[in-house]
Amino acid sequence: MNDLQLDEAPEAKLRVAAIGDVHAAPSQRGQWRDMFAEISTRADVLCLCGDLTNIGIAAEAEALADDLRACSVPVLAVLGNHDHQSGQPAEVEQVLREAGVKFLENEVCTIKGVGFAGVKGFGGGFDDKMLDAFGEAATKAFAQEAVDEALRLEHAIKMLDTPDIVVMLHYAPIAATVAGEPEAILPFLGSSRFAEAIDRFDNVRAVFHGHAHRGAYAGQTRRGIPVYNVAAPVEKPDGRPYALIEV
Ligand SMILES: [Fe+2]
Ligand SMILES: [Fe+2]
Repeated sequence: MNDLQLDEAPEAKLRVAAIGDVHAAPSQRGQWRDMFAEISTRADVLCLCGDLTNIGIAAEAEALADDLRACSVPVLAVLGNHDHQSGQPAEVEQVLREAGVKFLENEVCTIKGVGFAGVKGFGGGFDDKMLDAFGEAATKAFAQEAVDEALRLEHAIKMLDTPDIVVMLHYAPIAATVAGEPEAILPFLGSSRFAEAIDRFDNVRAVFHGHAHRGAYAGQTRRGIPVYNVAAPVEKPDGRPYALIEV
């Protein structure tokens, strides 16, 4: 079946696999190979939701790129905080771009009529506990980073004119999918500013994020848009480390 036929068939669904926090390392080369091969038989696209590497160096990205050779479906990605650890996120991105990964940080993508928008995101906390820009310059900068990332996400979603949109983040947009993490670190796991941006749109069908390794799999925004924490260690309904949904 080609793209055109898929688009024309009203019952046709795009099968989207998603996983975050693979934390690739050269010493564990091959760790994800079988999973990527399996995903290629079950999904039409793979979303990688950040923390692609452990300390954000090219050698780790190369290990992941090697495993991704087993993946025959399009791969979309956003970076995570670990991918920034060594101050070389561009190098990490470059290695993976050369392996065919498409990064959504500054662009959007449409696959078989479904739009994909994504950013890394940032922290700041949730709901009425969300940090605002008050006090020291460092505190204001922390709050502003989440605002800026949310604006970038909003702009990316606006760039898509597809009837269905999938959003990818590394940080969580809602509190429900970080439930299980220690309360003391919640402000560093995500921000409601991303859910607020997403809820301005009528055509977002699903949101994937990672980062909260001990969080919960599923929740929803205030408007009811499904949110999935696809961090690899989070238990998924079918027992696999990745999520698979239809859009
Ligand atoms: Fe992680
Ligand atoms: Fe993370």
